[in-house]
Order: sequence, then C-alpha cells, then structure tokens
Amino acid sequence: MNILKSLADRDRVFDFLVPVASPVDVRHGPILYLEDVSVSFDGFKAINDLNLTIDDGELRCIIGPNGAGKTTMMDIITGKTRPDTGQVWFGSRHDLLTLNEPQIASLGIGRKFQKPTVFEALSVFENLELAMAADKRILPTLTARLTGEIRDRIEEVLATIGLTELRYGPAGILSHGQKQWLEIGMLLMQRPRLLLVDEPVAGMTEQEMERTAELLTGLAGKGKQSVVIVEHDMGFVRSIARTVTVLHQGSVLAEGSMDKVSSDPRVVEVYLGADPDVEAA
Ligand SMILES: Nc1ncnc2c1ncn2[C@@H]1O[C@H](COP(=O)(O)OP(=O)(O)OP(=O)(O)O)[C@@H](O)[C@H]1O
Ligand SMILES: [Mg+2]
Repeated sequence: MNILKSLADRDRVFDFLVPVASPVDVRHGPILYLEDVSVSFDGFKAINDLNLTIDDGELRCIIGPNGAGKTTMMDIITGKTRPDTGQVWFGSRHDLLTLNEPQIASLGIGRKFQKPTVFEALSVFENLELAMAADKRILPTLTARLTGEIRDRIEEVLATIGLTELRYGPAGILSHGQKQWLEIGMLLMQRPRLLLVDEPVAGMTEQEMERTAELLTGLAGKGKQSVVIVEHDMGFVRSIARTVTVLHQGSVLAEGSMDKVSSDPRVVEVYLGADPDVEAA
C-alpha cells in the first residue's frame, strides 16, 4: 500500500530512488577525521589512539603489517565496529559514532570488501541496476522516465569501469579483475563521496592492476570521491600513491610520500623489510 502511494507521487519516488548529492560538509575541513580512536578485543588493543585526516578528493593509501588494524579501521568508519574511545567525523557535520551502518552508507560512504559479491547469473547491467535501487522490490515497478535516468547513470558508470562492451553478458563470465571493477561500479551507483577499498588488486593480473590504478586515481578528486585504499602490493601502492599512511599496532607509525615512508627505518623494520610476502619495490 505504501509503495503504491509513493508511486502515485512521482517526486517522492525520485527522492527515494535517485541518491541526492551527499550532505557531507567539507567547506571548512577534511572529509574524514579520526581522533584518538581506540578499540580493544578481549583486552587486545587492535586500534590504539589512532589519528587520521583525509581531505576532500584525496587518494590515500594505507599500508602496514598483518594485524596492524587496517581492516578494523574501516570497520570503525563504516559503523561495523564501535570504538571504545575517540571521535570519527564525516565532514564537519556528521558524527559517525552516533550513526548505524545503513545510515553511514546513505551519507555517501561506500566500502569495497576484498571478495567480489556480484550476482553472477545477472548481467553486468542488471547488477548496476540493482545497486541503484534502495529497495530492490520496487525496481520492477519503475516508471519509464525513472528508468531513463537510471539507464543514463548506468551507462556513465559502465564507461568509468570499462565494462560497456560486456554490459549484457552475465557477470559470472567476467574475470576476477572485471568483477572487482563491477563491484566498484555498484558502489558508484550510489554516488558516494568517500570510498574505502580493502586490498583491491589481490589476485589480479599485471594488466588488471594497471587498469585498477587508472580507475581508482581517476575516481579521486575534489567534489567527486575521496578514496582510501588498503593494499599490501607495494608495486601497486607506489604506482598510485600520493600520501601513504603506515599503520602499526593500531596507530600511525609514519605518513608522507611513498619515498619518505619507504626510507623510514621504522617502517622498513616492521613492514617492508620483515614480511617476505611484501615486495619492497
Ligand atoms: N572482531 C574481532 N574480534 C577479535 N579480534 C579482532 C576482531 N577484528 C580484528 N581483530 C584483531 O585485531 C587485529 C587487527 O586486525 P585487522 O584485521 O584490522 O588487521 P589488518 O591490518 O587488516 O591485517 P591484514 O593486513 O592481515 O588484513 C588482529 O590482531 C585481529 O585478530
Ligand atoms: Mg585486513
């Protein structure tokens, strides 16, 4: 009944289905601000007085050894984990610690987990279409005009992620890398302002990595997206990094250009030199 009522009122349907620009306020400061954040799991401090500032449009790489707290930091930003202490702000207006996961996502924070979760039996196009609808039951009842708007947005995202030619094929036939791009596209359908991407190039071919580097650097920009990337592949990080933050034992160990942090003896000791899996480019 409610659905029928809202369909009768076109404007309300549009409000509901087409995400409006994120309400984040970055006029006077950063897009993401973490201050003195700590969280313990059974007495173990996974995040320990963490301070982090991300500017609007920034592309930031986060590196650090296994267990440093990188994924936990993303869990805190997205509302999956509540810190014991500290502050987490999205722009100057939104205190993320007062909001739950869906509320945080709807403010314009999109998160990409490592494993792609696309619907393999659906086409690439349909996957993007589904990502657009806040309430997936409403999708079949869209009006013609609405479908046109969504179609335009889907085509725009398809071009961004480089899957235009494959749009009517099932997502199941995509390569691992293409599935990752599709999932980034699904996040883009919601017009996020901040994208959190955990280990995007794990399992990718060299070519796919290069394409992913272009995609992520292209997404970052003032008034578009800010992009925070956690990645262990140092060759990849070096190819995209502007500012790199090194996490260790739940806090920032070093921060700066790739050259600066990779020549920091403390970073070499805890990460670059110590982990045989890490290729210290
Ligand atoms: N929900 C949880 N309960 C208990 N311990 C947790 C939980 N989440 C994370 N941890 C612990 O917190 C620490 C930080 O883990 P986290 O996954 O954030 O590290 P990471 O930097 O992402 O590591 P990796 O590079 O291996 O992905 C680890 O010791 C982990 O075992
Ligand atoms: Mg992790």
